[in-house]
Amino acid sequence: PVAKTAIEKADSNAEKLSFIVEEMSAVVGGIKTGVKRIVKVVDSLKAFSRKESAEKIPFNLLDSLETALVLCKRVMNNNVVVDKKILESSFCVLGDSQQIEQVLINLFVNATDAMEGQKDAKITIDIRDVNGAITMRVYDNGPGISQETLEKLWEPFFTTKEAGKGTGLGLPIVRSIIEGHNGQIDVQNRAEGGLEFIIQLPAYANGD
Ligand SMILES: Nc1ncnc2c1ncn2[C@@H]1O[C@H](COP(=O)(O)OP(=O)(O)OP(=O)(O)O)[C@@H](O)[C@H]1O
Ligand SMILES: [Mg+2]
Repeated sequence: PVAKTAIEKADSNAEKLSFIVEEMSAVVGGIKTGVKRIVKVVDSLKAFSRKESAEKIPFNLLDSLETALVLCKRVMNNNVVVDKKILESSFCVLGDSQQIEQVLINLFVNATDAMEGQKDAKITIDIRDVNGAITMRVYDNGPGISQETLEKLWEPFFTTKEAGKGTGLGLPIVRSIIEGHNGQIDVQNRAEGGLEFIIQLPAYANGD
């Protein structure tokens, strides 16, 4: 009988073990997803706290725009039309062009997400010099946002996206970068529908 219980015990342990083995791949998958998410949040937080550290170099805002558009091409996936209303060939800004690319990428990805499944999805970028201030409007023809969302839009970790998709750090990073460039950013719903971001950056003139 002792041997019998030992065998039974071994059997039930084996059963437990096989159960663990079966679950293992799902568990590992869950861990991988979790780690990916943590990496994303940590990267975002790094970008968020970087602010002043970058070296300031003059660059053409239109070059950053082109780079951002190339990097967003896959996300936009031919579903989003990009309309550029830009009359000049150069808008010189003093700062970190990669950070400004990051700003544009965050805005483009947000707009693309907001217009998911929409047929006539369009992002418009309007850049002009208004009395020495570079004024860049980035707007979409998506659903816009409610008053409630508008009030929380700049809060770190505020997101309406499903868990695992958005971290809610995109717009806080955008604002922190623009302010780090002595600029300003505002947001409003458009009368025609869609959301509009208005960014003002000091124009850099030689000898500044
Ligand atoms: N163009 C837009 N149209 C409609 N809603 C928007 C738009 N841009 C941002 N939002 C709203 O603002 C929220 C916050 O945006 P934010 O970029 O800070 O975070 P996220 O996109 O949710 O996540 P993350 O950028 O960190 O991946 C979004 O979840 C969305 O609800
Ligand atoms: Mg975002």
